[in-house]
Amino acid sequence: PRKIIIDTDPGQDDAVAILLALASPEELEVLGIVAVAGNVGLHHNANNARKVVELSGRTDIPVYAGCARPMRRHLVTAEHVHGDTGLNGPVLPDPTIPLQEQHGVDFIIETLMNAEPGTITLCTLGPLTNIAMALVKEPAIAERIQEIVMMGGAYFEVGNITPAAEFNIYVDPEAADVVMRCGAPITIQPLDVTHMIQSTPARLDAIRALGNRSGQAVYDMLTFSESFDLKKYGWEGAPLHDPTVIAWLLQPELFQGRHCNVTIETSSELTVGMTICDYWHVTGRAYNATWLRSGNAEGFYKLLTERLARLP
Ligand code: BDR
Ligand code: CA
Repeated sequence: PRKIIIDTDPGQDDAVAILLALASPEELEVLGIVAVAGNVGLHHNANNARKVVELSGRTDIPVYAGCARPMRRHLVTAEHVHGDTGLNGPVLPDPTIPLQEQHGVDFIIETLMNAEPGTITLCTLGPLTNIAMALVKEPAIAERIQEIVMMGGAYFEVGNITPAAEFNIYVDPEAADVVMRCGAPITIQPLDVTHMIQSTPARLDAIRALGNRSGQAVYDMLTFSESFDLKKYGWEGAPLHDPTVIAWLLQPELFQGRHCNVTIETSSELTVGMTICDYWHVTGRAYNATWLRSGNAEGFYKLLTERLARLP
């Protein structure tokens, strides 16, 4: 299986992504989960990551805490979407597995430096602070990363936290800039894709009907975070973001995109955090990412539902 580290700020949709990965051990070996400040503060995010690991039954997966704030800016959070704990909705017991003592950034560096180059993929589901800090502390990791697969940014669907910017990039645009320039292969799941992957009532009902604890928890999580998005967009279902990162690793044929240059706006007050995606190749800027632009929602929910059925 492909070795991955999940860097995350759970978050209901992050939690679903973690469950999808842990339900897919034939394809993915999760080496560790690293929390970052984002949707809510680091303490809650690290706690939530441990709760989700326990829900999946995979208590062998180590959970680390990374950075408590962005590189340069004050932390912007999203309690209005995710609730005060970041994972409101399901009733999950307090975690019993320990938080690892090692700092999450050091775990990322150590894991990459001790592995064969090109064998570890970083899946990023939150602001890019931990990955950027790891690149700053040990630049030699860049050429050892197999791939960075991130949920972040938007181009055709513009922004969700400001008119121009997507939340994960907006929270720490300097970190996103460091990551986009690092030279490792990068694949991006932007809002352009995640707005197509809508959690309609029928799709959520099918997940609840699995009858297991995990299916019920996913139903409760997404019903909670949806209540905000459904009002905001007026669609039949809310967008589902972070699990697309894991789905792309499992079934890349569900998504379409192209190789191009992606640059992060870090200075303009109006558009800070915007991902400038040269999708039509109108500049000569070197390609640094694969920008996904569309996804097959039916295929995605079939995969998600099948995999969740394997969990307790
Ligand atoms: C991203 O922001 C967070 O609130 C979600 O978990 C997702 O990672 C979507 O913009
Ligand atoms: Ca997230």
